[in-house]
Amino acid sequence: MTHDQAAAFPTAPEEVTADHIAAAFHDPKLANVLYHDWEAGTYDEKWSISYDERCIDYARGRFAHVAGTDGWPYASALEIGSGTGFFLLNLKQAGVLDQGHVTDLSPGMVEVAVRNARSLGFDVEGRVADAESLPYDDESFDLVVGHAVLHHIPDLDLALREVRRVLKPGGRFVFAGEPTRRGDWVARRLSGLTWWTASRVTQLPALKEKWARTRAELDESSRAAALEGVVDIHTFDPDRLAAMCLRAGAVDVRTVTEELTASWFGWPVRTFEAAVKPGALGWNWAMFAYKGWLRLSWLDENVLTHVVPHELFYNVSVTGVKPA
Ligand SMILES: C[S@@+](CC[C@H](N)C(=O)[O-])C[C@H]1O[C@@H](n2cnc3c(N)ncnc32)[C@H](O)[C@@H]1O
Repeated sequence: MTHDQAAAFPTAPEEVTADHIAAAFHDPKLANVLYHDWEAGTYDEKWSISYDERCIDYARGRFAHVAGTDGWPYASALEIGSGTGFFLLNLKQAGVLDQGHVTDLSPGMVEVAVRNARSLGFDVEGRVADAESLPYDDESFDLVVGHAVLHHIPDLDLALREVRRVLKPGGRFVFAGEPTRRGDWVARRLSGLTWWTASRVTQLPALKEKWARTRAELDESSRAAALEGVVDIHTFDPDRLAAMCLRAGAVDVRTVTEELTASWFGWPVRTFEAAVKPGALGWNWAMFAYKGWLRLSWLDENVLTHVVPHELFYNVSVTGVKPA
């Protein structure tokens, strides 16, 4: 069967007007297209995304932690909400998959993902696509992946049924990096407090020249934060996420949670970086942030995961299989 590609989702306007932005506050998909198109060119830098050992290890680790290493390399894989390709391109480099296809609601993101693959020396096929209506035939892929995408999708039951439809029998899905309900609550409060403090302290006359962002930059960040409130639709209780996957027809469903103290450290750090003048923090700060995050991740993974309830951790990953 061939899937009807005439999907009804908002397309990126040639030129974004104030009317588009006003409409986006009532339309999460339009908000996703505008917000992520706008972010596409600077996204890798903003989130410290790279395609070297650091992020290859990270992607491999997230995948293996929830789904193990059986079946590598999957012959054909699709990513939904690929952004700039962080998850799929690094999984390919890690040897998890062979042929990759990237999709995203944002044309700007798909363009960057395809370009990133090319600069790494391989090709992926890119399509602009809504996860609720995937433009692929039934039983096309051995693997479907996503990272930090489920929480943006309005009708998750529909998207998970689409994932099941495009998977071959016995095929696997892996979604990682989704916010848990409780972890997100804490992270948002820590980030809010950091932003409030940093954006005021840097305005003090003695600090302003070296540390403060311009008023225009701060206003733009506030506008972005407002749209972020529209694009971030869900947070997850791990058991309910698993139940949703079972309802979509998956078997062997499993969830794991990660990052407790690492997220209490990581979110304020990223917020602080966004609140101060670009370039003001320098290399020593970057090393402090990265090594601090690594050490706390180790603590979370090796110690706290055995004593703290799993739903308090920040990230949840889920995997499952389409019945053979
Ligand atoms: C937080 S970003 C994550 C990007 C990338 N996966 C990563 O981890 O860097 C979420 C991505 O999902 C995309 N997205 C949001 N809603 C979507 C939908 N309904 N269908 C497909 N992609 C969607 C956004 O455009 C955005 O690129």
